[in-house]
Amino acid sequence: MKIKNICCIGAGYVGGPTMAVIAKKCPSINVTVVDINQDRIDAWNDSDLSKLPVFEPGLDKIVEETRGKNLFFSTDIDKAINDAEMIFISVNTPTKTYGKGKGMAADLKYIELCARQIAKVAKEDKIVVEKSTLPVRTASAIKSILDNTGNGVQFQILSNPEFLAEGTAVQDLLNPDRVLIGGDNASEAGKKAIQSLVDVYANWVPNDKILTTNVWSSELSKLTANAFLAQRVSSINAMSELCEKTGADVNEVAKAIGMDSRIGPKFLKASVGFGGSCFQKDILNLVYIAKTYGLNEVADYWEQVIVMNDHQKNRFSDNIVKTLYNTVSGKKITFLGWAFKKDTNDTRESAAIKVADNLLNEQAYVVAYDPKVSEEKMYADLEYLNTRSSEENRELLTAEDNPYQACKGAHAIAVLTEWDEFKTYDWKKIYDSMNKPAFLFDGRGILDKNTLEKIGFVYYKIGVGA
Ligand code: NAD
Ligand code: UGA
Repeated sequence: MKIKNICCIGAGYVGGPTMAVIAKKCPSINVTVVDINQDRIDAWNDSDLSKLPVFEPGLDKIVEETRGKNLFFSTDIDKAINDAEMIFISVNTPTKTYGKGKGMAADLKYIELCARQIAKVAKEDKIVVEKSTLPVRTASAIKSILDNTGNGVQFQILSNPEFLAEGTAVQDLLNPDRVLIGGDNASEAGKKAIQSLVDVYANWVPNDKILTTNVWSSELSKLTANAFLAQRVSSINAMSELCEKTGADVNEVAKAIGMDSRIGPKFLKASVGFGGSCFQKDILNLVYIAKTYGLNEVADYWEQVIVMNDHQKNRFSDNIVKTLYNTVSGKKITFLGWAFKKDTNDTRESAAIKVADNLLNEQAYVVAYDPKVSEEKMYADLEYLNTRSSEENRELLTAEDNPYQACKGAHAIAVLTEWDEFKTYDWKKIYDSMNKPAFLFDGRGILDKNTLEKIGFVYYKIGVGA
């Protein structure tokens, strides 16, 4: 089947950028991204491109090129479903906050709502593509809903997980390491559906990078990829603590092991802990799935990745308190960075949130600066934890939009995100404006120890022994 119209349900961090790139690379396909969130759709349609709801380097240009030509953002979900031969489901799949599997399993209610809506609206055969990250075997639930509540039309379900990383989404989409498509490769109709999606990607992705598998392998590969990636970060973070105790330097260790071609150099940067909307949620989901099959050792093994990550965040804030003579009460601690990584405005599960929460518990006064995150977003992140009242959060934390102002009078600075601009600051000027001794806790290992110590800072770098 030649695809002429694509609908994507969910205009978030995945749906928006992914569909923008499909629209750019497939000028003959009309792509409509729909969402129930009117504000989000309005922001995608804003003529001021700086107001797009997702900040990603290069995304604004692609949206400018394609929007209104073959890329559309709308809240008319039924129409978009009806018009499309292929429908991507790209809605959120957060960790369940209630009932069975609370705190672990993926909440599939948004996925089910999409399936029911597609079933209700579709008057012709459709290919439904799982773009969201889902537990293995979700496709059979979607198929059951579609077949049992639909209008007698045929549905083919494909799994096409997304591997983009935020901050590099556009580059990842333009030059993916691979595109994974799982489908029913045992039936003719299934094979045709797989081929239709292969043909979409073949507009710009080399054939040898388009991998087709059965549905279950595709669904499980996505969870596995995130688990392996997160495990690497937890592994190097575990070594960072040992480095600090022994006088080794985790950056040197990472370089030394990364030169082994079997290990490789990427994803070995020690940090204050991984964040982002997916690593924790997807590992918890994997742990839950393993437990439901009675695979307790498998579950425990992967759970340790999260245990280590929580420990890394907590030991970072503990170290700040301990170093500042065991009390931060009433002291000004400046955060440089709030986003979970550089080049994104996304703060979901950012280590900064937990570190701030811990320090606020110690009655510190936190002033945060992030080039892309608003003060209201920071308050919303803290409120989500429910540790203290909204009023207290607003008393104890403020945001500054000027980093020099943020650091003025601080007892300590903590680097929580690896934004490039932090490296180019006038650190002498910052030092002069601070309380002494001026402490600097580099949770991303991005600053130069010698330069800062020469200026006079008491400098702590994650994973580097004193
Ligand atoms: P998001 O929260 O940014 O976006 C999801 C959107 O879906 C929201 O705008 C929400 O309003 C909308 N939505 C929910 N239910 C809907 C419904 N019934 N009808 C219409 N719209 C609906 O989420 P995201 O970060 O884009 O992630 C989406 C999925 O992709 C998740 O499963 C996630 O695990 C996966 N994923 C995310 C990333 C990433 O970098 N963020 C990368 C790869 C995979
Ligand atoms: C991650 C994966 O890299 C993507 O392939 C996947 O599609 C995505 O999750 C998803 O499923 O949502 P993302 O979370 O956007 O992408 O960003 P990463 O670059 O993976 O970083 C995740 C976290 O790990 C960040 O907090 C980052 O700072 C941290 N990290 C990463 C480290 O601390 N050290 C590293 O060496 C690498």
